[in-house]
Amino acid sequence: MGCAAGTLAIPLAKRVKKIFAMDISGTMLNLLQERCSKLNINNILTIQGAWEDDWDALGVGEHDVVIASRSLITENFESALAKLNKAARKRVYVTTIVGDGPHDRHIYRALGRELNPGPDYIYLCNLLYRMGIRANVNFITHEEQNSYESPEDAFAILSSKIEVITTEEADTLRSFLKNHLVCHEERWMMSYPRKICWAILWWDKEET
Ligand SMILES: C[S@@+](CC[C@H](N)C(=O)[O-])C[C@H]1O[C@@H](n2cnc3c(N)ncnc32)[C@H](O)[C@@H]1O
Repeated sequence: MGCAAGTLAIPLAKRVKKIFAMDISGTMLNLLQERCSKLNINNILTIQGAWEDDWDALGVGEHDVVIASRSLITENFESALAKLNKAARKRVYVTTIVGDGPHDRHIYRALGRELNPGPDYIYLCNLLYRMGIRANVNFITHEEQNSYESPEDAFAILSSKIEVITTEEADTLRSFLKNHLVCHEERWMMSYPRKICWAILWWDKEET
């Protein structure tokens, strides 16, 4: 669920019989289909759908393993988790943020903006507990690896990601990048190290 252009669906396709890949974005699903054609992958069925949709009406059905990785983007987490649980025969995996997730607090602070990344994994753990599901939790931590072709490329990507709107904000972001971007092997990256942590929540159907 929330497969995007197949970050997980493509590598998993070789290891399973069939994948049912759902996303709200038709653009992402078209990209996934293009990648499947190029790679000669024939076992991924795509369907356009959202958390908010009626999954029975969409024909989502049941699947051995259900995965929602970094895609639980909804106003109603409880309903989304219940839908994942219902769609799974054996196991559910949900990957979600810990703390700030991938968002860079330094940039928000420089812009004088409040960073509100939304509820993190512990909220989902508690919701699941209330639903009678004791989820296992694992963490993946990595150093930020984003690098850019040039300072202008960094500005274009970051200003669109954090939706920089005023000229003042654009100037502040440019001067922040001037102070913090360093060039390493012809790529540009932030001078400060940043650890990003993801939580993987998972549970087996028979244990819940
Ligand atoms: C950050 S990507 C995650 C992609 C991939 N699963 C991964 O882990 O790399 C989030 C995906 O969730 C999808 N998404 C956002 N809101 C959604 C919604 N309400 N219903 C279904 N999918 C949604 C987006 O279109 C996007 O493809």
